[in-house]
Amino acid sequence: MSRHSIIRALVGGAALTLLAGIASAQTVIKFSHVVADGTPKGQGALMFKKLAEERLAGKVKVEVFPNSQLFGDGKELEALLLNDVQLIAPSLSKFDRYTDQIQVFDLPFLFDDIAAVHRFHNSATGKGILNSLSKKGMTGLAYWDNGMKQLSAKKALKMPDDAKGLKFRIQASDILEAQFKAVGGVPQKLAFAEVYQALETGVVDGAENPWSNAYSQKFFEVQPFFTESNHGYLGYMVVANAKFWSDLPADVRATLEKILAEVTTEVNKSSSALNDGDRQKIKDSGKTQILPFSAEQRTAWQTAMKPVYDKFTDKIGKDVVDAARAANKP
Ligand code: LMR
Repeated sequence: MSRHSIIRALVGGAALTLLAGIASAQTVIKFSHVVADGTPKGQGALMFKKLAEERLAGKVKVEVFPNSQLFGDGKELEALLLNDVQLIAPSLSKFDRYTDQIQVFDLPFLFDDIAAVHRFHNSATGKGILNSLSKKGMTGLAYWDNGMKQLSAKKALKMPDDAKGLKFRIQASDILEAQFKAVGGVPQKLAFAEVYQALETGVVDGAENPWSNAYSQKFFEVQPFFTESNHGYLGYMVVANAKFWSDLPADVRATLEKILAEVTTEVNKSSSALNDGDRQKIKDSGKTQILPFSAEQRTAWQTAMKPVYDKFTDKIGKDVVDAARAANKP
């Protein structure tokens, strides 16, 4: 070997080692979720990726996996605990195995509107729920909105009796199960990725979701009726694997937390407009009818669903339910 080629080999080797060093110094954050990019959560995940990769260029890479591509909602919490993904944002309903208090968000007709939900997020109780998952190996980082849920079905749902005998797809939440049982429905827990097909083939007859999910998953094509019920809240908790998060270099973690705070403000500011836009697109499609929900109807459904409170208030904690109710007053 000539002197030149030895030098070239040494320099090449050094460059490779240096590159390998850079690659290993880069933290990869896999962010997995189950909805489409165009929804509030999908947009939030992409904004987080953009800002993190801009401000921590070379240090952090964020890989976003939407639409249950990597893990569906049966598996994403387990995957997080195994550090197979580092960030997820499941709907609050999907934490019900991990904390009783969080189930408060599933109670029907609890919050008057999204502003009330935000007041609750920011209350001492709301923050306490965010922090409560640290004992379970997860770091709760933020609440993100999707929006208020709307009922949909193969028939018009006007009064509670209309739901009798209908099979409703629900998320894996005992409160949501009780909610549909209270009106004589037959709830079935199904993963989000399975809902379209279940509605299309008649495995279930109805569902509940905010407009953004109904639009992006095309539920409106297989549900001839929506009722603008706004009967419950669908939101998310952004959670990290606790060990992964605490092992991050302090400056990287601080920057990511600041980015998350900015993304949270943006998601929660824009989600209502995004849902309104998707409601309009569903209406314009002409493929389904959107039925109004009068004050009388609201009272009738609320009364029919009251047994859910009787059954779950002690489990959730009366103080938590009261704090959520109090958030309705500005
Ligand atoms: C659902 O399963 O209906 C929702 O939780 C999906 C989501 O993440 O918005």
